[in-house]
Amino acid sequence: ATHAPLLEKNCDSITPPYPVLIENLSQVRKHIKHKLTLAEKILYSHLSEPGKSLADGGKIRGQAYLQLRPERVAMQDASAQMALLQFMSAGLPQCAVPTSIHCDHLIQAVDGAKTDLERSIVSNKEVFDFLESAAHKYGIEFWRPGSGIIHQIVLENYAAPGMLMLGTDSHTPNAGGLGMLAIGVGGADAVDAMTGTPWELKAPEIVGIHLKGRLSPWVSPKDLILHLAGKLTVRGGTGRILEYFGPGVFDQSCTGLATVANMGAEVGATTSTFPYTPNMRAYLHATGRAPVARAADSAAAQGFLSADEGAEYDQVIEINLSELEPYINGPFTPDLATPLSKFGEFVKDQGWKDEFSAGLIGSCTNSSYQDMTSVADLARQAKSVGLTTKVPFLCTPGSEQIRATMERDNVTSTLEGVGAVVLANACGPCIGQWKRDDQKAEENAILTSFNRNFKSRNDGNRLTMNFLASPTIVTAMAFSGKLSFNPMTDSIPLPSGENFRFSAPSGQDLPSAGFTLGETSFYPTTTPKPQPDTEIVISKDSQRLELLEPFSSPFEGGRRELPPLKVLMRVRGKCTTDHISAAGPWLKYKGHLTNISENLLITAVNDEGGEVNVAFDHDAPDGVASSDTIPGVAKRFKSRNQPWTLVVDDNYGEGSAREHAALQPRFYGCGMILARSFARIHETNLKKQGVLPLWFADKADYSRIGSGDVLETIGLSELLSGTPGAEIKLKVTKLDGDVFEIQTKHTMSPDQVKWLEAGSALNHIRSQMD
Ligand code: F3S
Repeated sequence: ATHAPLLEKNCDSITPPYPVLIENLSQVRKHIKHKLTLAEKILYSHLSEPGKSLADGGKIRGQAYLQLRPERVAMQDASAQMALLQFMSAGLPQCAVPTSIHCDHLIQAVDGAKTDLERSIVSNKEVFDFLESAAHKYGIEFWRPGSGIIHQIVLENYAAPGMLMLGTDSHTPNAGGLGMLAIGVGGADAVDAMTGTPWELKAPEIVGIHLKGRLSPWVSPKDLILHLAGKLTVRGGTGRILEYFGPGVFDQSCTGLATVANMGAEVGATTSTFPYTPNMRAYLHATGRAPVARAADSAAAQGFLSADEGAEYDQVIEINLSELEPYINGPFTPDLATPLSKFGEFVKDQGWKDEFSAGLIGSCTNSSYQDMTSVADLARQAKSVGLTTKVPFLCTPGSEQIRATMERDNVTSTLEGVGAVVLANACGPCIGQWKRDDQKAEENAILTSFNRNFKSRNDGNRLTMNFLASPTIVTAMAFSGKLSFNPMTDSIPLPSGENFRFSAPSGQDLPSAGFTLGETSFYPTTTPKPQPDTEIVISKDSQRLELLEPFSSPFEGGRRELPPLKVLMRVRGKCTTDHISAAGPWLKYKGHLTNISENLLITAVNDEGGEVNVAFDHDAPDGVASSDTIPGVAKRFKSRNQPWTLVVDDNYGEGSAREHAALQPRFYGCGMILARSFARIHETNLKKQGVLPLWFADKADYSRIGSGDVLETIGLSELLSGTPGAEIKLKVTKLDGDVFEIQTKHTMSPDQVKWLEAGSALNHIRSQMD
């Protein structure tokens, strides 16, 4: 089918410079002799010095540090505040690369799109005004509240095969659906690209995922990634890119691939990507980017947009799509994957009630035209026998373009006809911005087509068990209201005494009549030019925004080791960025470091005693150890100028790119975090803010250190003097005076050592510009 392109875009700034990238790659091939995977091609063609040898003949993947030049930056409204505050302190007149801001996270879902949007615009006015004025000043494209969710807008407007992009959100990899590398980072990393500083990434390993076979009718790309999350676990992708290949890739729609790439974040992958396919070309045409498609066709003909024949992966995972069935993952972790056919039994075994309290579809993960027309097909089937949904059923369109196209094509009216409430084009319940009017006081379950399901994530209620599934499974189950309902095999009894069974859903990849733009006042006007005279106003008594004070270097006065650090607490078990810096109501303080720091680790478990949000202060003025909240003790340390450290468990900081999870401990005086292991993005974020991340060489040492102990680095001075692999030991002085040493590991590159030395990456960038 041909699709009338509606939003014909000026593609100059959004077409990757393929001839330059291909030339860069030919430079790189002079010193890298092996066949290249697609991910390597994209990475290496974006090296800041492609002619320079990467690893002096040694291994690159998993070891070398790459200095990269991303082509674009995208930021959402919550993380953009801190990114811009940091960018402002670098003192540049404009952004070095095209950058966009998307207002999506701050819009709270209460009772429907129109009023929610109006209310949120009023309640966040100060922040939206700040973002808009900064966008004008520095030449950034500003997508107003109502325009949609960052990842959907990037896919519709900016993503292009072979591109390298950074986004200040952990689901930035969504754009990988268009065959590019899109990487979620903290604001400080985005500032590298925005200031034209090469962005450093430890070369990831590449996992090849070979897809063969065909998905059966009830099974969607979402099920592929839910299945894979179960296989790989939340840690399986750490330090790795997932590169899909094989015939199964070519059957999927571009937006289906985007869903798979989106949720690569759930296994901790750096990002995910796919070779260029005809469906990507069709999507580029349908979204008004024919020139990008033509340029990509020619780059693909030169072999740039797929792996070399015979390229080797660090691991290959084979998946036969024909054998997949739908999955339901959760609760509380995205890797607890249960096939739909076993889910009823699982619910029974757990002793949970066989019911759920709401179904939610859409979000950045699953709101494509294909998703929405598939669920509308199910709604139509149900409506034809007089059924409406048994539970509240909410739908979040990913963008204004999707919303308007859904409305024009009667998708919206079909969903509303069975009881759905269509929310604003924004994150809403996906990020905890959901003011639930039927908040439950007892254990309850919800089903969502979203991507993440940590405790309290959606409605802020720890008692809500959140399960992830495809939009079609969520929708079909919403008509039954039972967790044990399997729409593939079970029927719903009708008042007439007959039984109704769904046929497999059928949707449409792209709208036959093309996309429609909807309300264009939400969109950026033209490609913006910096307006240096624009004043960025932050009121002195603002509770939402605060200018940043640079962190001081821990090495002042000629010191070459960190000052002695007091252990604030030993954190037990899973500690995601949601635990370290909670979202929900705290989102409103994203631009105010002092205020948001009040939420530091408030849902973390103290391994000494097992309580949540309790820490011990062994130096209270009266000499008696006392307990307080975790931010309470951190504040006491800060007021005493007592540098401190945390001892943490495995995969510390998993979950998101939330840099506040690094900024807040640093703000209170944290100098080092000692972990059994770190999640990649968070580890880098710590380094950027001048916090030293150290790994236990022997994980058993974790329990030998407790609150009040003092840790001193030994060997850091060598690292500072330029010995890259220098080992760092820690001298541990226990509260009772016992002393011992332990061995640690680290991943600090020479450049990252400079950040530590300067007190933060930003201090270092600034010193380079002086
Ligand atoms: Fe928004 Fe992130 Fe969900 S971008 S829609 S919150 S995963």
